[in-house]
Amino acid sequence: MAILVTGGAGFIGSHTVVELLNEGKEVVIIDNFSNSKKEVLDAIRKITNKDFKFYEIDYLDREKLEKVFEENKIDAVLNFAGFKSVGESIEKPIEYYTNNISGALVLLDTMRKYGVKNFIFSSSATVYGEPERIPLTEDCKTGSTTNPYGTSKLYIEQILKDIYTSDPSWNICILRYFNPVGAHESGLIGEEPQGIPNNLMPYVARVALGTLKELSIYGDDYDTKDGTGVRDYIHVVDLAKGHIKALQKLEKEKQGLFIYNLGTGKGYSVLDMVKAFEKVTGKKVAYKIAPRREGDIATCYADPKKAKEELGWQADLGIDEMCRDSWNYINRG
Ligand code: WQD
Repeated sequence: MAILVTGGAGFIGSHTVVELLNEGKEVVIIDNFSNSKKEVLDAIRKITNKDFKFYEIDYLDREKLEKVFEENKIDAVLNFAGFKSVGESIEKPIEYYTNNISGALVLLDTMRKYGVKNFIFSSSATVYGEPERIPLTEDCKTGSTTNPYGTSKLYIEQILKDIYTSDPSWNICILRYFNPVGAHESGLIGEEPQGIPNNLMPYVARVALGTLKELSIYGDDYDTKDGTGVRDYIHVVDLAKGHIKALQKLEKEKQGLFIYNLGTGKGYSVLDMVKAFEKVTGKKVAYKIAPRREGDIATCYADPKKAKEELGWQADLGIDEMCRDSWNYINRG
């Protein structure tokens, strides 16, 4: 039985495929390379010394997707496919809703047709909107998302809840990621944003490398210890391992709908990250204080207790490893 990974050439998908192969799982990847590169597939083979099946298709292409289910015995699906840029989603809401929501629906409908009901969904801490309380527990109120990307995650969560209500033989795990950063320690796979990065860590790494001039810190007047925004940064390898634990949970439970935060439970400010990056890499990160970015909140970090208790998962890597591996990847030459 194989695990189907959509978006398996992407940032979080590729790291999760590595962990799945290391666990001895049979893996089938689909990806259309809309935001990833073909070389990632060879890098995964190199890291693991293992192989997998690959189809270059768009998950909205129902016919081609059905062929994947015809040709393989799929047991579970991990859905990483989707657009993920907050800023771009505000410019292109139709593209974001079509790709993320219609894509998920085509995938879920195809799974239903082939009797595959084990599903792990990449959601986001964004679904909490303005946090009801900190640290965020899974039962905190969701909604009031501030961009189509976040709203697409929120809607898909609702769709999954409705599917489960209509047919409780589904076995679904929703994982709410906090701020994924870092890269595989081999330096062979990592985050490859197209154009100028929106997210903090890839931006900081490019300033240190010299390809971007200086970081703009969006606001230093938040109600936080140093005035800059506080987030729960999580190493992508820890995040990938969370999916293995989620899969084990689904294998054990057989049916249900489960929701977990995947975060470290620790909040670091923008200045903490800049300082940690400078310390670990020995490079200077030039920055200036800029106005707040619209839609940003002051503080966001997880209570990761539920994942620890029910999945036996917790993040092991700290910000030094996150900075080291981000740098190692971008500086690979
Ligand atoms: C982190 C902090 C910024 C860039 C978003 C999505 C979320 C998830 C991760 C997934 C904030 C500050 C940033 C910069 C800065 N997405 N910052 N200068 O906004 O917490 O979360 O990405 O795919 O769903 O909402 O992450 O990395 O953009 O920002 O000062 O150039 O860094 O204000 O405090 P965010 P981020």
